[in-house]
Amino acid sequence: IPRTILVIGSLNIDLTTRTRRLPNPGETIAAQTFSTAPGGKGANQAVACCRLARASSDAPLDNILVKMVGAVGDDEFGGRLKDALRQNRIDVEGVVVKGGVSSGVAVIIVDEDTAENRILYTAGANEALTAQDFPENFFSSFTPLPSFLVLQLETPLQTVLHLLTLASNAGVETVLNPAPARHIPLQFYSKIDHLILNESEAAYLTGEEVTFLDDDDGVKLTIDRFLERGVKRSVVITMGARGCYFKSPDRQEGWIRPEVRAQDVVDTTGAGDAFVGAFAVARVEGNDVGQSLNFATRAASIKVQNMGAQAGIPWRGEVQ
Ligand code: RIB
Ligand code: NA
Repeated sequence: IPRTILVIGSLNIDLTTRTRRLPNPGETIAAQTFSTAPGGKGANQAVACCRLARASSDAPLDNILVKMVGAVGDDEFGGRLKDALRQNRIDVEGVVVKGGVSSGVAVIIVDEDTAENRILYTAGANEALTAQDFPENFFSSFTPLPSFLVLQLETPLQTVLHLLTLASNAGVETVLNPAPARHIPLQFYSKIDHLILNESEAAYLTGEEVTFLDDDDGVKLTIDRFLERGVKRSVVITMGARGCYFKSPDRQEGWIRPEVRAQDVVDTTGAGDAFVGAFAVARVEGNDVGQSLNFATRAASIKVQNMGAQAGIPWRGEVQ
């Protein structure tokens, strides 16, 4: 029987412009390219789960099924967002159309030199995914129970906190990628199995300034703050080209370094999403945290060499 990964989160249309530099206030400059493409951290992570569970697009769906739950608007973008997921053979039955709102939109500026991205996010329909959409028996209504739940913060915080409680009660393993960062009440950390976040999110959630460079001790201390708050199985801080550092309460810890040449990096948008999805797949396949993060690091390393947040996510065959 295949196992199910449930991804509950956002779907956005990405409006992406690539530019050699950012305009100054009041200035107009010509950009290099513009594209509209499906994105959203939730949808991207679902695509990552699906692609990283199978060698290529025509490989059978025999080991892992991916179900997406989220909301789109009743506009032209909604259908396109669901179609993109269907093309990856993701179950979109749980993606609802909310009347009277537009689909989520992300305006993305990619710097041609550094391949770094800046994102301005408008939630739209994603904001309409409420805790009331998930009754107390939500997880037990699945047979079999989902093996893994993947969450981010582009949907309302109250919804995510409610889902963490339900999943924790049902014994479903969870990963929270707190992006974009928002204050998580302290009592909820003990309902999170895995917390995967970047430096700016770590700074926001601890209220401390954090840029780690290669300063091991700083990153360990920051991770300890989250472990002290009760995160159950692992805390992972991702640092782009420098890789990630992780620590789990059972004393596994360490750096995982990617192997990518700087000149091969074209677009970092969605790298975090590829990482989170790959991690979920590896966990469901029974790997320990360290092994799962190795796989996640390799998946993200390939994503940054491809254009597009969702389109650039590799299949498993490209990672091994
Ligand atoms: O993580 C990348 C994603 O974040 C983009 O696809 C965009 O939609 C933003 O929400
Ligand atoms: Na990202």
